[in-house]
Amino acid sequence: MNKVILSVFVFFIQFTFIFPAKSQENNHSFRPGAIWHDDRGIHINAHGGGILYFDNKYYWFGEHKSENSNAALVGVTCYSSDDLYHWKYEGVALPVVRDLSSDITEGCVIERPKVIYNAKTKQFVMYFHLELKGEGYKASRTGIAVSDSVAGTYKFLKSYRPNAGHFPLNMTEKQKQERTLPDYFSAWWTPEWRQATVDGMFVRRDFDSGQMSRDMTLFVDDDGKAYHIYSSEENLTLHLAELSDDYLSHTGKYIRIAPGGHNEAPAIFKKDNLYYMITSGCTGWDPNAARLFTADSIMGTWTEHPNPCSGKDAELTFHSQSTYILPVQGMKDAFIFMADRWTPRHPIDGRYVWLPILFENGLPVLKWFDKWDLNVFRPDAEVDNTFEIGKQTFLLYHARTKIVKSMQSVPGRRHHSPRL
Ligand code: DGJ
Repeated sequence: MNKVILSVFVFFIQFTFIFPAKSQENNHSFRPGAIWHDDRGIHINAHGGGILYFDNKYYWFGEHKSENSNAALVGVTCYSSDDLYHWKYEGVALPVVRDLSSDITEGCVIERPKVIYNAKTKQFVMYFHLELKGEGYKASRTGIAVSDSVAGTYKFLKSYRPNAGHFPLNMTEKQKQERTLPDYFSAWWTPEWRQATVDGMFVRRDFDSGQMSRDMTLFVDDDGKAYHIYSSEENLTLHLAELSDDYLSHTGKYIRIAPGGHNEAPAIFKKDNLYYMITSGCTGWDPNAARLFTADSIMGTWTEHPNPCSGKDAELTFHSQSTYILPVQGMKDAFIFMADRWTPRHPIDGRYVWLPILFENGLPVLKWFDKWDLNVFRPDAEVDNTFEIGKQTFLLYHARTKIVKSMQSVPGRRHHSPRL
C-alpha cells in the first residue's frame, strides 16, 4: 500500500514542481562537474571563461586546453547559446600564431579571457592574462585583442603590465615614499616582509615597468565605465583598474584590494548598487576556500566577509575556482557563479561548476546542487538540496509551501532550507 501511495506521489510531483534527475538529460539543467557537451557532442573547451550577452545571445569565451598541456596551442574559443543550457561551438575567437616573434605565439600561456562590448566604438574587446612562451609565469602581462564581430576573429593588439608610472589611489604618501624593496629580504613570509608587502613594496618595485597582471576579470558598470580586476604584486594583492573610454588601455586610476591577502580568480557582480566580488586563495591548480568582498563604490573600500560557500566541501569551493559571475538576462537578481574544476594532468578534461548565487542575510551564498535550472531564480522558488526516493535522485527548488509540507512524510527526504 505504501508503495502505491509513493508511486502516485512521485507521478504527481514529476509533472508539477519537482524535476527528476533522469528526464534532464536533454539539457534543460546545469550539472556542475559533469561533461558538458556542445552542439557537436564534444565537451566544451572554454576554461577560465567569461560570458558576454549580446544581441539576445550569450557568448562564452574561454581557454582552449589540450590533452597534455596548459600552454595555449589553439587560443581562445567561443560558444554561443540562447538559453545557457545548449551551446553551439563558434570556433576559435583568438587564435595563437605560428610566429615566434609574436606575444601570442603557439605555446604561450593565455588564461581567463573576458570580452566586453564598447557601445561607442562598436568594438568587442578581449582582455586575457598572457605569459610569454618559455617564461613560466614571469611576464605577468595583460593581453588585449579586438573584433568588429562578437565571435571574432579577434585581432591581437598588444600586451603589457598595466599602470606603469602610476601609484594606486589608496596608497598613502608615506607608503609611496618608503624605500624598502623585495630584494632587501632574504626570506619571504616573515612579519617584516608581510608588513612591507602590505605597505606596497611590490608596487614600488614595479612602478616604472608596470604592475604584474595575472588572474583577471572585466566589469562594465551601469555608466559604461569598464574595469580590469587582476592579481598583482606576485599574486599577493588584487588591483582594480579603470579602463579608458575605448576600453583599450588603463587610465592609471587604480586601487589595491586586500593587500597581502593572496587572492586570485576574481569574479564580480553588482546588485542594488552594491558591488560583490568572489575570489580564491592561491594554491596553483588545487582548489581552496572562496573569499567574498563587498563595496559601496567600485573604487572601494572593499570589505571582506566569510567564505560564501556552505555545506560539504565548502572549504574547497566544491573542488573548483571562480572565473566569472553571470547576470541572467530577464531575471531579477539572478546571478550564476561560474567556476573551473581544473585537471592539470589532463587539462582538456577540466569541468565547469556553475552554481546559482543565493542570498541569505543580504550576502551571497553558494550551495552545491547536483543538478539545477533557472527556475531556482523564480521569486516563488524554494531552494532545497537533492533528495532520494528509491533509486531516483530529485532536486527540489520550485515548490509551494503546501507541497513542501507534504514532503515531510516521504521516506528518504533530506534537508529543507528556508524560503528565499
Ligand atoms: C591558478 C590560476 O587561477 C589559474 O588561472 C592558473 O594560473 C593556475 N593558478 C596556474 O597554476
